[in-house]
Amino acid sequence: MTTHDSTRLPGRLSAPAPGWTTYADVVVVGSGIAGLTAALRLHAALGPRPDDAPGPRVLVVTKDVLDAGSTRWAQGGIAAALGPGDSPAQHEADTLTAGAGACDTDAVRALVVEGPDAVRELIALGTNFDHDPDGALSLTREGGHHRDRIAHAGGDATGAEISRALIAAVHAAPEIEVVEHALALDLLLDGPVGDPGTGVAGVTLHVMGEGQRDGVGAVACRAVVLASGGLGQVFSRTTNPAVATGDGTALALRAGARLRDLEFVQFHPTMLHLGAGALGQQPLVSEAVRGEGAVLLDGAGRRLMTGVHPLADLAPRDVVAKAITRRMVEEGSDHLWLDGRHLGAETWERRFPTILRVAREHGIDPVSDLLPVAPACHYASGGVAVDLWGRTGVPGLYATGEVACTGVHGANRLASNSLLEGLVFSRRIAQVLPTELGGWRTPAEDRRSPGLVAGQARAALQAVMTQRAGVLRHADGLAAGAAALAALAQEPTEEPGVPAWETTNLLTVATGLLAAATRREETRGSHWREDHPDRDDDHWSGHLDLTLVDGVLEVDVLRTAPTDPAAVAARTVPTGAAP
Ligand code: SIN
Repeated sequence: MTTHDSTRLPGRLSAPAPGWTTYADVVVVGSGIAGLTAALRLHAALGPRPDDAPGPRVLVVTKDVLDAGSTRWAQGGIAAALGPGDSPAQHEADTLTAGAGACDTDAVRALVVEGPDAVRELIALGTNFDHDPDGALSLTREGGHHRDRIAHAGGDATGAEISRALIAAVHAAPEIEVVEHALALDLLLDGPVGDPGTGVAGVTLHVMGEGQRDGVGAVACRAVVLASGGLGQVFSRTTNPAVATGDGTALALRAGARLRDLEFVQFHPTMLHLGAGALGQQPLVSEAVRGEGAVLLDGAGRRLMTGVHPLADLAPRDVVAKAITRRMVEEGSDHLWLDGRHLGAETWERRFPTILRVAREHGIDPVSDLLPVAPACHYASGGVAVDLWGRTGVPGLYATGEVACTGVHGANRLASNSLLEGLVFSRRIAQVLPTELGGWRTPAEDRRSPGLVAGQARAALQAVMTQRAGVLRHADGLAAGAAALAALAQEPTEEPGVPAWETTNLLTVATGLLAAATRREETRGSHWREDHPDRDDDHWSGHLDLTLVDGVLEVDVLRTAPTDPAAVAARTVPTGAAP
């Protein structure tokens, strides 16, 4: 274990005392595919609320409106072995290969075996996936997949359609209450953070609402399911929406949970490059465009991926992002090109109406023009460490979706496995949580040191992380980044409020990311160390875990055997039955 002590992090967010209290058996934080699946499944499993219950069975709290999270932006789709000739074993092999030896094999097995049923359930719920003219589910291919296994909807509007169907189902469920515009601040615990047995007594929220629930309040509850999404806003340019500020990740760390593999941040190879001044959420150009035949070109018009990888333009995402970055550095440019002109207008309109519209809005017509593209932060493969059933180490706290680290993604997530992960592991949480639901815990006095980082530090923080911890990393840059974050943490703080709370969360996860990226002295998957260019299974196969002890991050190196797809295929791992 080592201590990463360049920055002292708040033990909890400075916030006014709760001005109101409400009750629910389970609070689900987040409203993407993971959160809403958990809410629906828990609603079914917990049954009707007793007459004397102080609140609903399930309360969903979400930072903006229900569909403002990352799910609705997902383009490519959801991967599952549903096509002729495909099998969970082949999906497993592709997932493990992309994960670069760092996947948890039991979690991957659960994902691929339970995935097809989970997608069928989504269809039964009313999700309208695209179909081929013969009526079969239309399946496409993305980077790292050896089969057509990506189900999609509305061409490239898969996430929006899934979100629509889930929200309709939640609205139809009488025992699910929803609070929008609610930022989860911190957990209420019934004992000292980190003590064995200290568990969840509730959660504090800031609600921008009206009437009884406005401002900071508390929800007393028996369990919390974190499904609050990712941390893309740590970087200056990301495909993630504005709400992705790592709130759940930071909250869990402050409550004593372990964060795992934060260094494995995936950069999508093809963000639509809109110029150096374009910051924040940027348009995605789905890998499915390459799946349909588009190819990457360098500044001289040469094919980029030929000879780089046997799958060429459909190589795993880290391989493509690195190849693009390498060539950009060689050329001294800030983007390369994606050529999809030969797909023709009909394919663009049918398969990629969203990308076509967005590109045209920016004056680029993919039917006749090359698309300028560059890598951008896309997905946190790490997160709050959970077991196969979504349990964190804190009694009563579960995590699912991008905020969680189940271990299915390893060092590099396979395309379109993220929606599937949220679906499968939220179903798993709903299998165990009702049987584990304890009584109501009484919040103990909170002795964690409160703190806050100034909201105006946000842009500087994002610039530091983009420069020091992006696709290319080096010990010197990482050290400079850590020092810069430590200085930002000292900036004078304004009053508590959403900008300062979000920036404090960003600084917390950014500090953790830098600590883990510094510690992992090898190149693996999406973590590329220029000063340690090779994968080093002798020293680094396994996870890096972070915990917060008295405001200081501690890093644990957990050694496991590298996950060789052939060895895993030979094993039989029982899945599907809750312990
Ligand atoms: C894409 O459509 O390229 C993104 C899919 C994913 O990130 O899984």
